[in-house]
Amino acid sequence: MARIKVGILGATGMVGQRFIQLLEGHSWFEVTEVAASERSAGRPYAEVMQGRWKVEGAIPPRVARLTVKECVPNLDCRLCFSALDSSVAGPVEEEFAQAGYVVSSNSRNHRMDPDVPLLIPEVNADHLAIIPSQKDRWGSDGYIITNPNCAAIGLVMPLAPLHKRFGLDKVIVTTMQGLSGAGYPGVPSLDIIDNVVPFIGGEEPKVESEPLKILGSLNGGQFVSADLTVSASCTRVHVQDGHLESVSVGLKQKASPDDLIAAWTEFDPLGGQELPSAPSPPIIYRTEDDRPQPRRDRGEGNGMACVVGRLRKCSILDYKFFVLSHNTIRGASGAAILNAEYLYKKGLL
Ligand SMILES: NC(=O)c1ccc[n+]([C@@H]2O[C@H](COP(=O)([O-])OP(=O)(O)OC[C@H]3O[C@@H](n4cnc5c(N)ncnc54)[C@H](OP(=O)(O)O)[C@@H]3O)[C@@H](O)[C@H]2O)c1
Repeated sequence: MARIKVGILGATGMVGQRFIQLLEGHSWFEVTEVAASERSAGRPYAEVMQGRWKVEGAIPPRVARLTVKECVPNLDCRLCFSALDSSVAGPVEEEFAQAGYVVSSNSRNHRMDPDVPLLIPEVNADHLAIIPSQKDRWGSDGYIITNPNCAAIGLVMPLAPLHKRFGLDKVIVTTMQGLSGAGYPGVPSLDIIDNVVPFIGGEEPKVESEPLKILGSLNGGQFVSADLTVSASCTRVHVQDGHLESVSVGLKQKASPDDLIAAWTEFDPLGGQELPSAPSPPIIYRTEDDRPQPRRDRGEGNGMACVVGRLRKCSILDYKFFVLSHNTIRGASGAAILNAEYLYKKGLL
């Protein structure tokens, strides 16, 4: 089977590098274009990345030889993954959609747009029904889909089966977010060694609003937010990869701890669809008192599974638990790749 040509916008950044790493040897997609700012354009990718390649392993040789292009819509591909800095992602992604490309974006810019799906295929695949109206807006065959903020996706994964079975009323979450979420070079070492920073600019509003769109419905061509409230406190911790989140939930219907665990362990909506990046199961429940932990559990499902543990009664809401997700895989590049695999499987590419 001929593989689908894909380009990476923002290929030189932290998330862009993860795209290249995760797409190497992909059975459906082949990276044919790498694009970044005019500072990087015009030179071979390997030369631009001297001292900048930070993910495990070497740059795949075929990608290393590609010339970095500017982010203008004349790339030789059908699908673009966007890992662009949010200061530029908005208009660049629009230009590509208008020019007929499918854009699977990590950036925040279009996540809350009224005709852009904020997609987790296991949770709200039905939101893709909005795509024809978006295509009408661009007047082309192109469109944008987005994946959630890295802390929001780790939160929504365990919330989704609870919301479906019991209804969620209130959610309180405190995040402990890994350093790679801040890009490179990220937080200065003197600010984070031996420390926790109780602020991540712009993060809490995303963690409070994105779950409502994802868990909401698509009704009469409009997204309707889920009827629940989320309160988030976001912190940066001295961990390289992995976001750990402490979550308390209030449910609309009574449920036992075993009911919650069953909702998580029986959750596998993509089971049997054979998407290369889909973890099976997507949620792993650990019974030990001291799990999940970032260093030990972030690699589950090749970084695509969420690990839940320490379910217990909450004396304010109903229950509380921890969830861990890999922020640059399930929370960024891996999520956008899974989204594109789902589009392909459904004939939307
Ligand atoms: N890190 C995470 O865990 C994470 C998780 C979820 C979402 N995200 C989002 O993903 C995006 C990328 O994050 P990152 O951590 O990879 O950032 P990053 O390391 O700073 O990389 C930013 C990329 O954007 C490119 N860029 C900057 N200005 C540009 C311009 N004017 N025109 C074209 N390209 C330009 C850069 O190219 P040059 O090298 O040429 O400057 C680079 O390739 C951001 O929107 C971020 O919010 C990140």
